[in-house]
Amino acid sequence: MLIREARESDLDDVLLVERSAFAGDDVAELTRDLLEDPSARPALSLLAFIDSRAVGHILFTAARLDQTRNTISASILAPLAVIPEAQKQGIGGELIERGLQRLSESGVDLVFVLGHPEYYPRHGFQTAGHIGFEAPYPIPDKNADAWMVQALRPGVIGTVRGKVICADGLDRPEHWRE
Ligand SMILES: CC(C)(COP(=O)(O)OP(=O)(O)OC[C@H]1O[C@@H](n2cnc3c(N)ncnc32)[C@H](O)[C@@H]1OP(=O)(O)O)[C@@H](O)C(=O)NCCC(=O)NCCS
Repeated sequence: MLIREARESDLDDVLLVERSAFAGDDVAELTRDLLEDPSARPALSLLAFIDSRAVGHILFTAARLDQTRNTISASILAPLAVIPEAQKQGIGGELIERGLQRLSESGVDLVFVLGHPEYYPRHGFQTAGHIGFEAPYPIPDKNADAWMVQALRPGVIGTVRGKVICADGLDRPEHWRE
């Protein structure tokens, strides 16, 4: 498997992976919007290939905390997609790990995700709400575990808190319903 940063010329592959994994156009359209969204930058878009076929995609977009006056660098993981035929082979996990490594190298402190609470903790995420990080839109109590965070710099968790401000493309209530 090859994982590399997606280029502009990879847009069709990115959208194909998103449509296939999510069985529809909605997440592909969100992905396209985010890739064009200046408020989402810096973004990290990684594609996974097997035998030159795009099989997985992950996107991280810029975020910030409302109370930290930009002293904390944050990112949101959304979406993550692996085509059905290639699932359960570790591709999703490898995309997460590779992305976190790249973000860490570029000085990102915190990465947030709204996702499956049985999946992301395998890759170092923990529930974010009870340690002081509010999602851009309220997450219903029954889904509170789905709002997660991971610190890429030791000592960040416990010293900062606040509401996460996301890119404009993600800043709609419908994107925050798990
Ligand atoms: C979720 C997704 C990205 C995982 O990709 P993947 O390459 O299959 O993941 P990995 O191979 O790294 O991990 C597979 C493991 O995760 C588990 N897993 C996958 N989706 C899960 C989910 N929704 N909830 C809990 N566990 C899940 C699998 O059961 C498997 O467990 P096992 O190792 O015990 O067999 C992929 O299933 C997908 O694209 N799904 C559709 C889109 C989606 O839901 N994206 C995530 C949005 S938060």
